[in-house]
Amino acid sequence: MTTTPDLLAEAHATFAQLFEEARVAGEPDPTAMTVATASLDARPSARTVLLKSHDLRGFVFYTHLDGRKGRDLQANPHAALLFHWPRVREGVQVRIEGGVEIVGDAEADAYFASRPRGSQLGAWASKQSETLEGRETFEQRLAQVEQEFSGRDVPRPPRWTGLRVRLQHIEFWYGAQFRLHERWLYESDLAGDWSKRMLYP
Ligand SMILES: Cc1cc2nc3c(=O)[nH]c(=O)nc-3n(C[C@H](O)[C@H](O)[C@H](O)COP(=O)(O)O)c2cc1C
Repeated sequence: MTTTPDLLAEAHATFAQLFEEARVAGEPDPTAMTVATASLDARPSARTVLLKSHDLRGFVFYTHLDGRKGRDLQANPHAALLFHWPRVREGVQVRIEGGVEIVGDAEADAYFASRPRGSQLGAWASKQSETLEGRETFEQRLAQVEQEFSGRDVPRPPRWTGLRVRLQHIEFWYGAQFRLHERWLYESDLAGDWSKRMLYP
């Protein structure tokens, strides 16, 4: 087992390298990742979201705070992220786990402002994960918000923001023939000291 202060940077750089390889390899969407959450009564749930930024502080995606994942993460701010890139090398899986925080307002506003207007209006019109009686109801809500914001910039809805999964645990799984897969785990202890080790496949 190795312990050095540079291991966080090494782990992040490894992610960045594989992410770029996924893009070059033509993965349909390298930013698509599964995010798993758990409710306070320990019920897990998972869904796909898109990775919008990543750095040493963690991995950011955007969502509504009132949907199921938003509610889970406010009650139990821990998440797991999962990427699978079958076209990279002989197949790569990256598993990330960590505590979750809401990004700052300025960061969320800047990202929201960069989205196409249609997506901005959709964020206002959707009551994410609530029951929808019929598609027409959503279309009516969309028409209402279109009218409401007509001729002006669409501001970020107050309950729509970014969530950052901090890097506390990251495992790289590299496929290999005959199930001789290679697994490297980087993890931080409670004091924030990083270590790196190999795992049996
Ligand atoms: C490819 C793909 C990308 C998605 N990206 C996002 C995203 O970035 N943010 C988001 O809130 N939902 C995204 N969704 C929808 C989620 O999978 C999910 O249906 C929604 O967020 C509600 O989840 P919840 O009820 O667990 O909160 C995406 C779905 C797919 C299939």
